[in-house]
Amino acid sequence: MKILMISPELAPYAKAGGLGDMVASLSKALAQMGHEVRICIPRYGSVNHDKTWTRYPNSVAVHLDPRRTEFCSVWSAPFAGGATVYFIEYDVFFGSDQIYGERTDHGHRFGFQTLAALDFCLQDGWTPDIVHAHDWTAGLASVILNTTRRHTPVGKAASVFTVHNLQHQGLVNADVLNYLALPSWLLTPNNLECFGGVNLLKGALYHSTKITTVSPTYAHEIQTPQYGFGLDPVLLHRWNDLSGIVNGIDTDEWNPASDKYIPAHYTADDLSGKAQCKTALQQALGLEQDYGAPIFGIVARLYDQKGLDLLSDILPDLLSRARMQIALLGSGERWLEEHFLWLANKFPGKCGVRIGYDNALAHLIEAGSDFFLMPSSFEPCGLNQMYSMRYGTLPIVRATGGLADTVRPWITNPAKGTGILFADATSSALMDAIHRGLQLYFNYSGDFSQLRRNAMACDFSWGTSAKAYEAVYQDAIYTRKGAFFGR
Ligand code: ADP
Ligand code: GLC
Repeated sequence: MKILMISPELAPYAKAGGLGDMVASLSKALAQMGHEVRICIPRYGSVNHDKTWTRYPNSVAVHLDPRRTEFCSVWSAPFAGGATVYFIEYDVFFGSDQIYGERTDHGHRFGFQTLAALDFCLQDGWTPDIVHAHDWTAGLASVILNTTRRHTPVGKAASVFTVHNLQHQGLVNADVLNYLALPSWLLTPNNLECFGGVNLLKGALYHSTKITTVSPTYAHEIQTPQYGFGLDPVLLHRWNDLSGIVNGIDTDEWNPASDKYIPAHYTADDLSGKAQCKTALQQALGLEQDYGAPIFGIVARLYDQKGLDLLSDILPDLLSRARMQIALLGSGERWLEEHFLWLANKFPGKCGVRIGYDNALAHLIEAGSDFFLMPSSFEPCGLNQMYSMRYGTLPIVRATGGLADTVRPWITNPAKGTGILFADATSSALMDAIHRGLQLYFNYSGDFSQLRRNAMACDFSWGTSAKAYEAVYQDAIYTRKGAFFGR
């Protein structure tokens, strides 16, 4: 199949969270299976070209409307597994370093990227079978395929839309429809309209041939008011075309036996290197060199989704009473950043905090910690819990979304357990889960290393999930063939 991915993020070029990892590793897996995969992302100011890049010989004409055409440059570079990445260079919108940021022109920016990706395919004579759009920024892909580009070769492509996070929907000014010359009937409640503006994600939910999200549990959750962020009725309406496929991870990039960011390598059969990683982590974050104290690691965007407010409530008490350490890396909301820095100050040697983005430290935290905390209020999939299990670090997670689908509770099956789960989004439930972790670490009658080995034995590679995407694509192509109008 010819597959066009449209995404705002792609690791390692542009990444704010797990979306960048997912698009990169799924594309790599699909390309390795023999599909022709093109990935289209904006060329942000921070992305520098190197000698692997080639500039497309002609400028690409983006036909905004019949009387208005903008020209942009397109660069291509080989990507992992045999895929190709295409960078849309258009400094008016993408000259700055920021992927998102506080701006008011996101509808125009990402609408332009989406249209440019499709018009580039037309100009290049490359007709995708599948246009796979990721999250709100690419929400207009299926809308454009069903309307202004319907009667072009790309208009035959089936569209698949993946919801990575329903909280972010792209509520933008309705003038984006004029800007892209999209028909005005789209500004109706069963299309894009939302509070008088345009909701890009809602448009994708109505217009895509098939919809996926990144875990089976999240696929159920988003059909309920508790997790639907107002779009649960639309998802219920499309339940028959919605599926949940748990993300795989890049097992080459995240591998304790070969990771270039950690000081010692280890495997399930020989865990000795993990001890060195723990010591290095303690040094890196100014923690006491107390090997006997369990380290609870956290790597996260510091936003309400991640449930870290629950943790901030109980940490002063826990850190003053228990022999334990915290290793936190993250950035986000000011009050959370300041709160964790305050804790680091109050508990020197026990609470190590680094505010910022640091890929190498993220790897070291996965390797050097004993437990990994993810008390998320919702978590579509979550990659960090899978990275931590691969590194023999036991996740303590709230049983929601992909966390519930990927972590096996040790309490129900100690012989097979890979982590600790708790249900309620409350500080006391989290406190109880951390206590269970401390009990396990200090008082478990069995072999604690066996729990690490259980976690390390899990297979989180893309094998099964990439095949599931292949099946969704085939289904979408079949459905699209029978559609004269609409999806
Ligand atoms: P989300 O996409 O909601 O942030 P995921 O668990 O799916 O959550 O993915 C988060 C990804 O972003 C992981 O690869 C994680 O290591 C990375 N990450 C998050 N914050 C940081 C940070 N401050 N520094 C380095 N990597 C980070
Ligand atoms: C989103 C979700 C996260 C998921 C990631 C990749 O950022 O918050 O749970 O793992 O996308 O799909």
